[in-house]
Amino acid sequence: MEPRIFAGPPAAGGPESLADHAARLGLVPRGSAAEATIPVIEASGLLGRGGAGFPVGRKWRSVAGQAGGAPAVLVNGAEGEPLSSKDRTLMRLRPHLVLDGALLAADAVGADRIAIYVGSAHRDARDSIERALVERRDIRLPVQLFAAPATYVAGEESAAVHFVNAADARPTVTPPRPYERGIDGRPTLVQNVESLANAALIARFGDAWYRGVGRSSTPGSALVTVSGSDRDGVREIEIGTPIGELAEVAGAGRDPRDRQAVLLGGYFGGWVSAERGWGLPLDPVELRDAGSAFGAGVVAFLGHDRCGVRATARIMDYMAGQSAAQCGPCVFGLRAIADATAGLANGTAARDDLARIERWSQQLAGRGACRHPDGAVGQLLSSLRVFGSEWEIHQRRRTCSREGFRSFAVPVVREKVA
Ligand SMILES: Cc1cc2nc3c(=O)[nH]c(=O)nc-3n(C[C@H](O)[C@H](O)[C@H](O)COP(=O)(O)O)c2cc1C
Ligand code: SF4
Repeated sequence: MEPRIFAGPPAAGGPESLADHAARLGLVPRGSAAEATIPVIEASGLLGRGGAGFPVGRKWRSVAGQAGGAPAVLVNGAEGEPLSSKDRTLMRLRPHLVLDGALLAADAVGADRIAIYVGSAHRDARDSIERALVERRDIRLPVQLFAAPATYVAGEESAAVHFVNAADARPTVTPPRPYERGIDGRPTLVQNVESLANAALIARFGDAWYRGVGRSSTPGSALVTVSGSDRDGVREIEIGTPIGELAEVAGAGRDPRDRQAVLLGGYFGGWVSAERGWGLPLDPVELRDAGSAFGAGVVAFLGHDRCGVRATARIMDYMAGQSAAQCGPCVFGLRAIADATAGLANGTAARDDLARIERWSQQLAGRGACRHPDGAVGQLLSSLRVFGSEWEIHQRRRTCSREGFRSFAVPVVREKVA
């Protein structure tokens, strides 16, 4: 597939300037009314790229139709997921595409304010957006840049709104959801940066153009962050590309036997064995139907020299540490599960810890104000299925079957376009 988001100058050239962007793509139509834009975005079938895969056009229509004052747009570039770097790469290389999408969305929903929320650790992305805003002197509505705290939950939509309102990036109780009452109490469109960049292209080239690629039921292309391969980095793929094909291109092996498993969707996602995963399409809808997750496009391969139990324990420890410490079940439940999981991983578990973490995980789901605990235990439960025999060995023999294992790579920034 020809690149779409990353069409244009090579990544090595750095951020695309406004002059180059406008010469290559022309200016995105401004001032378009909702009636003109929203049906095209709806017809494109574009799904949100922040993790939940919600239809973008439907969200725009819903925000545009809310009472309660002029809406606001919150551009979500927090990217707290440790295994993802596609959002910061996009903001760094194609800042004007992201701004085009934000302006288009603001016009479509009738917003009079834009908040751009970029992970505070992603300095290059932030600098690039800041420079791009200086270049865009024609923007007539207020646009403010916010540095999202470097935590996992800071990118959750109610946490992002709370940060803009009160400098506190902890999720708030919903309802009301941000689309009903968000920034300054007004209806707020929270949209991931990749979703907005795609919308900016659809506004130029049309919904049929967008649907012109895609190999499965979901149309279009998507950015993915690949790790655990020989050529790690951010890639643009046709939605529906089989994982095995991506593995081959990225140098993770042609044969499923070359890898042990794949973590899809990130720390919030789920494991699949390489044997099953190689044939699965990278498609948010089909992966959900198959009991897995596309999430924010993380594809992390696990080699045979690594232990799935230890990889999972490290993720659970990280996720327990990232609880926003507001809801008892999340604060205490996740920590208890993470500690028991760590015991299993390092050979100090009590006799029934394996059964216990499974039971606790099932009890924890749905008990927090946000989906943080659900995502964490979903990942753990998928690990119990995929690495079942390894978990048994850790429980019964208190050892790891993989000599000289190396643990799973936790926070590694892979910003390069592969
Ligand atoms: C714990 C948690 C963390 C999240 N982090 C992010 C994030 O860093 N970036 C993002 O775009 N969406 C994140 N989301 C999803 C947002 O809540 C929201 O669904 C998304 O920004 C909407 O944009 P989209 O429809 O374009 O995907 C997170 C969700 C949860 C539950
Ligand atoms: S569920 Fe956890 S992360 Fe979410 S709001 Fe409650 S304490 Fe915070």
